[in-house]
Amino acid sequence: MIYFVTGNKGKFEEARGILGDVEQRNVGYAEIQADTLEEVAVFGMREVSEKLAGPVMIEDAGLFIESLKGFPGVYSAYVFDTIGNDGILRLLEGALDRRAVFKSVLGYAEPGMEPMLFKGEFWGKITHKPRGSGGFGYDPIFEVGEKTIAEMDLEEKNKISHRGASILALKSWLSSR
Ligand code: IMP
Repeated sequence: MIYFVTGNKGKFEEARGILGDVEQRNVGYAEIQADTLEEVAVFGMREVSEKLAGPVMIEDAGLFIESLKGFPGVYSAYVFDTIGNDGILRLLEGALDRRAVFKSVLGYAEPGMEPMLFKGEFWGKITHKPRGSGGFGYDPIFEVGEKTIAEMDLEEKNKISHRGASILALKSWLSSR
């Protein structure tokens, strides 16, 4: 059983789809202002490892838009909560290059163990309008092929997503020990 420290039900369901034996713990931790997702995850792991005894994981993600030079990146949560998907679409009005990448950094540790990081990336394009009602966050404006992530079911998203990849990397590592 792994404790997944997150307040995000969507993330938790994705993790459960891959790991099975995982429990959501919404105990909170400080997300520092840093230049990389890795720094945020390493710092967060220190706090959650102290708070919870047992295998524990956290995950930090961000959306990096090519024509905005990687914005919102590490500020993705703040940008989503302020200007949201409509704000991103406005920033990209008239932009021909709509490529973007989601990045996921997962931190995992067991008591007495140095935290490990597992990563995943997911390339796609920012749409011109939001589509779909599934998923969460930027899912309705991020498309791969014909579909936005919000038009996919959880299983479909998990197979190709940034978080699907980082969680699967953890799963492979766990089963290879
Ligand atoms: P955090 O990892 O919770 O800090 O996420 C940063 C921001 O990116 C939040 O606003 C999330 O809603 C959004 N986000 C993270 N992962 C995804 C995803 O898989 N799809 C869409 N939005 C995401």
